[in-house]
Amino acid sequence: MHSQVPDIQKLVQAAEIIKGGGLVAFPTETVYGLGANAMDRDAVAGIFRAKGRPADNPLIVHIAKAVEVKYLSTYLPVGAGELMKAFWPGPLTLVLPRHPRVPKIVSAGLDTVAIRMPQHPVALALIKAARVPIAAPSANRSGKPSPTTGTHVLKDLAGKIEAIVDAGPCDVGVESTVVDLTASVPTILRPGGITLEQLQAVLGKVEMDPALAAGEMPRAPGMKYVHYAPEGELILVEGDLPGVFDKICQLYRHYLSQGLRVGILASEENSFRYRQELQPEIIVSLGSHKRPETAANKLFSALRSCDRRHAQIILCEAFPREGVGVALMNRLEKAAKRRISL
Ligand code: TXA
Ligand code: MG
Repeated sequence: MHSQVPDIQKLVQAAEIIKGGGLVAFPTETVYGLGANAMDRDAVAGIFRAKGRPADNPLIVHIAKAVEVKYLSTYLPVGAGELMKAFWPGPLTLVLPRHPRVPKIVSAGLDTVAIRMPQHPVALALIKAARVPIAAPSANRSGKPSPTTGTHVLKDLAGKIEAIVDAGPCDVGVESTVVDLTASVPTILRPGGITLEQLQAVLGKVEMDPALAAGEMPRAPGMKYVHYAPEGELILVEGDLPGVFDKICQLYRHYLSQGLRVGILASEENSFRYRQELQPEIIVSLGSHKRPETAANKLFSALRSCDRRHAQIILCEAFPREGVGVALMNRLEKAAKRRISL
């Protein structure tokens, strides 16, 4: 199926697979998820196997109605109700106290559980049809860029999962924001589709996990692993647009002269100039420098496109850390082997 409108017959089939303990990839508004019945520990173990995911990296549980939180969590910390009301369904994941009935494997042994209500109509319809909460990480092989199309999922997981519900490209393109509400001050463990400013407008005080900036051990276990890594070596270049242009031209020529295949990921403002100056074989525009949300939407697909074209070096322009640009830059920093600040 390739539509935002759920095809009931196919969804019922997918829901049956989930109920039977199988794995189904499905679209959300952020990225595709790899789903299993969250209450079935063997099914959840299957997710870790299929992705090659480290056992200490917990999963997000997806629900279709806000009241289901009460089944999965022992109590609602201050602020939970307000955030659910403001941002669910949507790209916000809440870390809450885990109810003992949620299998430990879902949370990698933690006494918290991450819960989110996705906005995609197909995701919501699937959860409703399965009549169980669905545990789902992003549907990529562990370490690879998250999938924003059904084709990306197949590339990584064909033969390892029972089915995929394909509804075309995802809207947001970066994952949900993960907020820990069990901390004394609500804390962003992973920046994502809902911005710090949006959360502050509802809650007042919200912090960023300091480890996100400092390169220390982050509190969202998943944030410490190699992530979003394309096959090629990604070099992130940060500075003003003309400066970045000159630096990338210089690096491009350098690596080309070494006989390497070089790709460029650039703002729309500069892409045209690279095309003129370098005639690069591999170049993807991530949209206007002024619209980081567009770049966020295109990023994972662009990284995969560089892989498909066997880029050995990927030169990427940085974007402003504003709004969803914070999440975009977080993913780029994790994907990058090297960072150059001008
Ligand atoms: O947008 C999304 O969040 C997508 C779609 C499919 O919903 N899912 C997703 O899942 O990105 P995943 O597994 O790729 O990333 C989940 C992140 C990881 O960084 C993980 O460590 C963190 O959430 N996380 C999950 N449970 C947690 C918990 N109990 N405490 C702290 N961090 C947690
Ligand atoms: Mg992931």
